[in-house]
Amino acid sequence: MSIAAVTHPVHTTTPAGFPPGFLWGAATAAYQIEGAAGQGGRTPSIWDTFSRTPGKVRNGDTGDIAADHYHRYREDVALMASLGLGAYRFSFAWPRILPGGTGPVNPAGLDFYDRLVDELLGAGIAPVATLYHWDLPQELEDRGGWTHRDTAHRFAEYAALVADRFGDRIGTWTTLNEPWCSAFLGYGNGVHAPGRTDPAQALRAHHHLLLAHGLGTAALRDRLPAGAQVSLTLNLAAVRPLTRDAGDLDAARRIDGLANRIFLDPVFHGRYPQDVLADTAAVTDWSFVRDGDLAEIARPIDSLGINYYSPTVVAADPEAAGGLPSPFPADRGIRFVLADGPRTAMDWPVDPDGLYELLVRLRDELPGLPLLVTENGAAYDDYSDPSGAVHDPERVAYLRGHLGAVRRAIGAGAPVRGYFLWSLLDNFEWAYGYSKRFGIVHVDFASQRRTPKDSARWYAELIRTGQFPPADTPTRDGGAD
Ligand code: FCB
Repeated sequence: MSIAAVTHPVHTTTPAGFPPGFLWGAATAAYQIEGAAGQGGRTPSIWDTFSRTPGKVRNGDTGDIAADHYHRYREDVALMASLGLGAYRFSFAWPRILPGGTGPVNPAGLDFYDRLVDELLGAGIAPVATLYHWDLPQELEDRGGWTHRDTAHRFAEYAALVADRFGDRIGTWTTLNEPWCSAFLGYGNGVHAPGRTDPAQALRAHHHLLLAHGLGTAALRDRLPAGAQVSLTLNLAAVRPLTRDAGDLDAARRIDGLANRIFLDPVFHGRYPQDVLADTAAVTDWSFVRDGDLAEIARPIDSLGINYYSPTVVAADPEAAGGLPSPFPADRGIRFVLADGPRTAMDWPVDPDGLYELLVRLRDELPGLPLLVTENGAAYDDYSDPSGAVHDPERVAYLRGHLGAVRRAIGAGAPVRGYFLWSLLDNFEWAYGYSKRFGIVHVDFASQRRTPKDSARWYAELIRTGQFPPADTPTRDGGAD
């Protein structure tokens, strides 16, 4: 199938206020759903090691079986088709394709993604691929992981190989998912794999991840047909000061630097922000940045993916010591405040305005750059009722509010081209294991039975009719029309 066919999927519809061709999608990630961890030639990633380390993942859960998508992908694609999805964002598992992180290639790994991609195309669903959603091959971590510059080069080799094989069928490519989490949760506070806790190493990992993005972008451009889209997904923070006091405003500036501008400035302007360099000077001298790196990192990309769940509110607090358990390097004197109001099962405040703020900010700061909401959604404590149905009115309200915010942002001129709901299926939620359910499709992990929740029906109805379905639960932002 041609790229043109891939980027204009047949199921796309255009609700009032959403532009023509708007992509309606759902997202997943390899380690969270595939299972088959030891099958088909796959070798361990840092998440296999981490989840086997006592105390790291709730209940000792692992992704060994997860949602068994490796075996059930046909059923899952059929589910997507029944919901009317136009696009599906998934990730390739590096250790399935290149066991050990570097050659030789594992044909069975490539074959699995061949089957998946062909199944999607056969159902008229555009595959949107992420190359790295956190499952670094363990062998590369043993050589230093993202703190080791060489890992960026290994990533570019892997990107080239995947592009060679799938470039004819995949139109939209994302290098990295949320490098902030890889660097700052993986190497900063150790809440994610590989579980290291060293702020200097977190900043070093951050730079090498960006270098991987740049080298990977170059590798993709070399291999992909003209017209293919290359992107990066960031979990940008909607940072707000608690008050307008100078101290709180400065706390917001610092966290905006460490969460947002530390990515946006190098990727789009080829420089690190001066204030971030100054704020982190006691942690690192940044000598891992070499001549030419920033030009590599700033290679042009075609769109930016934004993952948004909740805003970040900060206040100045002389008592706040900084450091663990915070993932941020150099955050002494800053207190993180949880906003009042409704929260999800993750304890994350529900606040659609944060998504609106981010999208209009990017409209202003990156004029003309197409934006994709590559993740947005909520965990709630869902269960099957005696009839087998799963009612999730809070998730419907969450989605209604956030899609309302997306539509308002589009109305205000933000070039948002698509929305990928997190997540299609309940899955392995990293350090929370299976205790948090983000899916619009319920998974009974004992039987692997899939049950679309009310939110799945709600989303399907939105895609089908182009209108917000009537809401059971009013939301402050939910206005459908
Ligand atoms: C994001 C991750 C995704 C999922 C959601 C809830 O940070 O990219 O894999 O875990 O959070």
